[in-house]
Amino acid sequence: MKTQYYTASSLDGFIATEDDSLEWLFPLGDLNASSYPAFIAEVGALAVGSSTYEWMLRNADQVAAETGSPWPYTQPAWVFTTRQLPVVEAADIRFVKGDVREVHQQMRAAAGSKNIWIVGGGDLAGQFHDAGLLDEIIIQVGSVTLGKGKQIFPRRVLSPTLRLMSVRQMGSSMVELRYEIGK
Ligand SMILES: NC(=O)c1ccc[n+]([C@@H]2O[C@H](COP(=O)([O-])OP(=O)(O)OC[C@H]3O[C@@H](n4cnc5c(N)ncnc54)[C@H](OP(=O)(O)O)[C@@H]3O)[C@@H](O)[C@H]2O)c1
Repeated sequence: MKTQYYTASSLDGFIATEDDSLEWLFPLGDLNASSYPAFIAEVGALAVGSSTYEWMLRNADQVAAETGSPWPYTQPAWVFTTRQLPVVEAADIRFVKGDVREVHQQMRAAAGSKNIWIVGGGDLAGQFHDAGLLDEIIIQVGSVTLGKGKQIFPRRVLSPTLRLMSVRQMGSSMVELRYEIGK
């Protein structure tokens, strides 16, 4: 029953380009050959920031072609936004704003014995961390640099340090790092 920030990043710490492109990421590895299938099987609820959600809206055709659905998640999702956004057809989504603690309680109740996935972006994961609610950060670090872009985790974490739990090489283009949040 953990709250996990699971994401892919460039070597220099960006999860998307400044204009929210992920084109750099897809050539780096095959999702199905990664830890993702085992990870998502244990997820009971998702938290998604609005830029991340809008990427799904913009790329609905591509996502549907690859996964069979424009919204490839069966778990309930909480989309954080202060705006009114369109709903992806047949997606189990609720729009929320403000303090993540109240939302986390709703997510915990829905997830039951499963984990909560903070999909991103980095500041949303940071908000859960600020509230003491984040347990793990799992990053697939790609062997590319972007120079600038959307930051993976715009927070200072100095003491206690993150605790490195495992390192898994995924070919020559990615490495997965698992960190536990020191509390
Ligand atoms: N590499 C990967 O594996 C990976 C994973 C996830 C995401 N991504 C990409 O990374 C980028 C992330 O974008 P981002 O850094 O801008 O983050 P984001 O979290 O997707 O979006 C940030 C926006 O979410 C809304 N928001 C956040 N917290 C909120 C709160 N507590 N209450 C209400 N609204 C809140 C705000 O927008 P509004 O209020 O204006 O709506 C905020 O500007 C996207 O392009 C996404 O596709 C990549």
